[in-house]
Amino acid sequence: MNVRNIVCIGAGYVGGPTMAVIADRCPDVRVTVVDVNEAKIAAWNSEALPVFEPGLPEVVQRARGRNLFFAPLTPQVLAEADMIFVCVNTPTKAYGEGAGMAADLQYWEKSARTILAHARPGTIVVEKSTVPVRTAEAISRILNQSNRDEVFPVLSNPEFLAEGTAVQDLVAPERVLIGSSNSSVGEAAARELGAIYEYWVAPEHVLYTSVWSSELAKLTANAMLAQRVSSINAMSALCEKSGADVTELSRAVGMDGRIGQRFLEAGVGFGGSCFRKDILNLSYIAGQLGLQQVADYWRSVVDINDYQIDRFCKGILENMFNTVAGKRLAVFGFAFKPGTDDVRDAPAIRVCTRLLDEHAELAVTDPQALDNARAALDGLPGTVHYLADPYAAVAGAHALVVCTQWPQFRELDYERIFASMEKPAFVFDGRNCLDHERLYDIGFNVVPIGKAPMRHY
Ligand SMILES: NC(=O)c1ccc[n+]([C@@H]2O[C@H](COP(=O)([O-])OP(=O)(O)OC[C@H]3O[C@@H](n4cnc5c(N)ncnc54)[C@H](O)[C@@H]3O)[C@@H](O)[C@H]2O)c1
Repeated sequence: MNVRNIVCIGAGYVGGPTMAVIADRCPDVRVTVVDVNEAKIAAWNSEALPVFEPGLPEVVQRARGRNLFFAPLTPQVLAEADMIFVCVNTPTKAYGEGAGMAADLQYWEKSARTILAHARPGTIVVEKSTVPVRTAEAISRILNQSNRDEVFPVLSNPEFLAEGTAVQDLVAPERVLIGSSNSSVGEAAARELGAIYEYWVAPEHVLYTSVWSSELAKLTANAMLAQRVSSINAMSALCEKSGADVTELSRAVGMDGRIGQRFLEAGVGFGGSCFRKDILNLSYIAGQLGLQQVADYWRSVVDINDYQIDRFCKGILENMFNTVAGKRLAVFGFAFKPGTDDVRDAPAIRVCTRLLDEHAELAVTDPQALDNARAALDGLPGTVHYLADPYAAVAGAHALVVCTQWPQFRELDYERIFASMEKPAFVFDGRNCLDHERLYDIGFNVVPIGKAPMRHY
């Protein structure tokens, strides 16, 4: 079989961009993305795409209507597929066994049952969502039930894209991982998927492994990236106590070729939909398998992240004379990182929640994520203004709190900002992204992460 018709279940941050790039690079393959959320499908068919990603509108524009389609999930769409990607969300389970740790696989399992009901035998099922080890095996049992033959071969093909650079990551991936069973059916299915990627990815970047290695490699990659962030954040606390400067530390340590510079920037902590969830899931799996030390080791990466956010909030309070009640604080950046509108598990959510608990009045500004910020803080008691204009957000504020290092924040007129603020004016730079010396010279009290505060009093 040569794959001519791909369907993707789940039109989110992964499904939409991934399928857009596949369609763009494989013009003779028809790609249809479906979702239970009809509003999202309508948005993918409009000019206002439901996710913000640099370069994505151009890719969608080229392929949409040619060989890229966004459509409701119908039996017919599934029946026509040669290959079905499953890109549904796999959040942390909020109930029952494993609550707060394990992955909630209900959307994945529902998708498998829908595939079983409507897809043609022989359709290749590709697990793109990040899932616990052995999920493909469990899904394969649902799909192939009593049948010993692999009627629906199940492949693991985890996605390594990073939001903010998703298009670039998809167009030039460092590696594509394809996990399959070692049966002839499984290996043939893996070659079919490999052939799709090889339209634009060099064969040496396509790795074939067992399904379990592939599933575990994705969790491991996320855990190790997050671990670097927690490692440098742990050092930032030590720097603050010892008088060292974490930026100097990162530069010095990162010049060691074995360590490297990336993911060594201290800050208010990691966020996003994946790191916390995937590490908790990894820790849960290790615990379930009786590997308590392994579970605790990975859990501590999340604990340090929580500690860092907590430290940042306490620092705001302490510096502002132990009260922010009734004071306006401008929150610069809400997205979990620059280049995206995604606010899932963004540190800004916790920072804002803490500050609202202390009865601060907040003015949030973000170039892309204001609507999502509003939804994330909806229902919390207190006053929050959402303002696209950073100058309007900061006017009358006692402090400016940076939660996301959007590059445009560096370009603002800080003399003008200082003039419009209450005094003493504070900057809490949770991303160490502003020019601290300059801000101090203007008159701000500057409190960075992992280095000495610069105060005028
Ligand atoms: N966001 C990332 O940067 C990233 C990167 C790599 C891997 N992943 C993984 O990819 C998966 C998807 O992540 P995402 O960020 O795209 O999630 P998302 O929430 O943005 O999108 C998931 C979509 O699946 C849809 N869906 C859920 N159940 C469905 C069903 N039964 N039928 C049809 N549609 C259904 C939802 O409506 C939603 O639109 C997760 O497992 C995640 O861990 C995410």
